[in-house]
Amino acid sequence: LPDIAWVNGRFSPLEQAYVSVQDRGFQFGDAVYEVLRAYDGRIFAVDRHVDRLRRSCRLIRLQAARIIECLSDLLAEALHRSEYTDAILYAQITRGVARRSHRIPAGLQPTCVLTVRSIEETYKLEQANGVTVIGLSDIRWARGEIKSTNLLASVLLKQRAAEEGAFEAVLFNGRDELTEGASTNVFIVTAGRLRTPALSERILAGVTRQVLLELAEKAGIPVSQETITCGEVVAADEMFLASTSIEVLPAVVMDGRPIGAGRPGPITRHLQQLYQRAVRNWPS
Ligand code: PDD
Repeated sequence: LPDIAWVNGRFSPLEQAYVSVQDRGFQFGDAVYEVLRAYDGRIFAVDRHVDRLRRSCRLIRLQAARIIECLSDLLAEALHRSEYTDAILYAQITRGVARRSHRIPAGLQPTCVLTVRSIEETYKLEQANGVTVIGLSDIRWARGEIKSTNLLASVLLKQRAAEEGAFEAVLFNGRDELTEGASTNVFIVTAGRLRTPALSERILAGVTRQVLLELAEKAGIPVSQETITCGEVVAADEMFLASTSIEVLPAVVMDGRPIGAGRPGPITRHLQQLYQRAVRNWPS
């Protein structure tokens, strides 16, 4: 089955999809995006992703209301055409094509790109056994709440982690407080309480994060969204990463030292199960 793309109204095989070299997404990273996942032929939490994309557009003053209106239907059509039942979907909206200038030209037509790809990595082994992470300082820009395609800092952080044999870079701000991972939200468990940093301009409001918080509350697991120091992370009983693509991934070693017992803990396991159930029974 072919991976497919949709660019400004046209479907094509993914390898035949192009945008202009004058696109501001290419030249400035002047663009926002979403990564979504389909399970059993249905796109998980598509409304939440579309809402977040709308918000990202508003925060960068990109007017794309018309395309965002249709996005949910377009994504469903793209998934249908791909013939995949399980897939990774990607949506990107850029400011559009213009002669290069930092100032935003008036009257631009946004560029919209959707892709549907097969899931080549399900992280089953990592989900079962847990992964290693390293702590790094959060060198990204101050507006992590915006899901922008300006990902250079995240790329460098992730590469550094990979070169040190770690799956993810867990990031700390200048006060040594946890923000998030380079491409994941981070949770810890302390004495039976599920904890994750409160939302701020600095971190992405992850869809997986929010779903997990709701599932935990329904399951009666005590939850706090609060400031978490590096010391509290190191001393945690459990730690896990969360995102659309990795789902719920136990982190069992940080900077060479075990987190808790050094293996996936009971609350992490419980949430993995609840999440797998939720993605397959999500109301559409
Ligand atoms: N990453 N934090 C950051 C910085 C992210 O890039 C992501 C998502 C998340 C988790 O968000 P969600 O649960 O909505 O997927 C948190 C996507 C998957 C990516 O860039 O590939």
